[in-house]
Amino acid sequence: MIEEILPARVACAEAFGDPPDTVLFPEEEALLGRAVEKRRREFATARGCARSALAALGVAPAPILPGERGAPCWPPGVVGSITHCAGYRAAAVARARDMLSIGVDAEPDEDLPDGVLAAVSLPGERARLRDLAAAAPGTCWDRLLFSAKESVYKAWFPLTGRWLGFEDADITVNLADGTFGARLRVTAPEAGGSRLAGFTGRWLARDGLIMTAVTVPPRT
Ligand SMILES: CC(C)(COP(=O)(O)OP(=O)(O)OC[C@H]1O[C@@H](n2cnc3c(N)ncnc32)[C@H](O)[C@@H]1OP(=O)(O)O)[C@@H](O)C(=O)NCCC(=O)NCCS
Repeated sequence: MIEEILPARVACAEAFGDPPDTVLFPEEEALLGRAVEKRRREFATARGCARSALAALGVAPAPILPGERGAPCWPPGVVGSITHCAGYRAAAVARARDMLSIGVDAEPDEDLPDGVLAAVSLPGERARLRDLAAAAPGTCWDRLLFSAKESVYKAWFPLTGRWLGFEDADITVNLADGTFGARLRVTAPEAGGSRLAGFTGRWLARDGLIMTAVTVPPRT
C-alpha cells in the first residue's frame, strides 16, 4: 500500500501483522531490553521491513538502531524512515544520491483524541479541514493532518538535526490528487546545497489506515 505514495527510487516494505520469526541483531535485542511485548513486536517487524527494503536496494542486512532523538541510523549512503501503528508497520529507504530525506507515517483512520487537534494545528489548517470534511466526509482529516506533520518531522530531523514544532509547518491537503504541501514557518538551515522552504508529500486513506509520505529529492 505504501508504495503507492512513494516514488519509484524509494524501496519500501510493509506488514499488517507481526511474523513470529523476525530475527534481530544482538545490538537490537540488547536495546529492547525489557521492553513490553507491544514495543518488541513493532520494533522487530519494522526491522524486518527495513531489511526487506534495504535488500531491494542491494544493501546487506544491518542493525537499525535509534540515533539522535530516536531517528533511525541507516547504513552508510542510505536514507529512510520507519512507521508503526496498530496493525501496520512499514519502512522506506533510498540511496542518498537519489533522495536527501524520507519521512513516512501511518495512523488509524480514527478521529484524534479530544484536544489533540487544537494542540497540533493552526487556525488556517482547521478551516481547511472543515472544507475537506464537507467535501469528503469518509476520512478522518484531523488524523491525516497529524500524520502529514509526523512525516514532515521525520524527513526534517535527519536533514537538520533540529526540533520542529507542530506550529512550525502549515499543511495544505489536496483532495483531488492525493498530495499535500507543508510550508515551513521557521527558517530552515541549509541542507543539500539550499535552504528548504517546505516539503511536498502524498497521502492515502484506505482500509482503516491513513498513511503519508514526504520525500526530499536532491537539488538540481
Ligand atoms: C518521533 C515521532 C515523529 C514518531 O511518530 P509516531 O507517529 O509517534 O510513531 P511512528 O510509529 O509512526 O514512528 C516511530 C518511528 O519514528 C522514527 N523516529 C523517531 N524519532 C525520529 C526522529 N527524530 N527523526 C526521524 N525519525 C524518527 C523511528 O524510526 C521510530 O521507530 P523505531 O523507534 O522503531 O525506530 C513523534 O513521536 C514525535 O516526536 N513527534 C513530535 C514532532 C513533530 O511531529 N513535529 C511536527 C512538525 S510539523
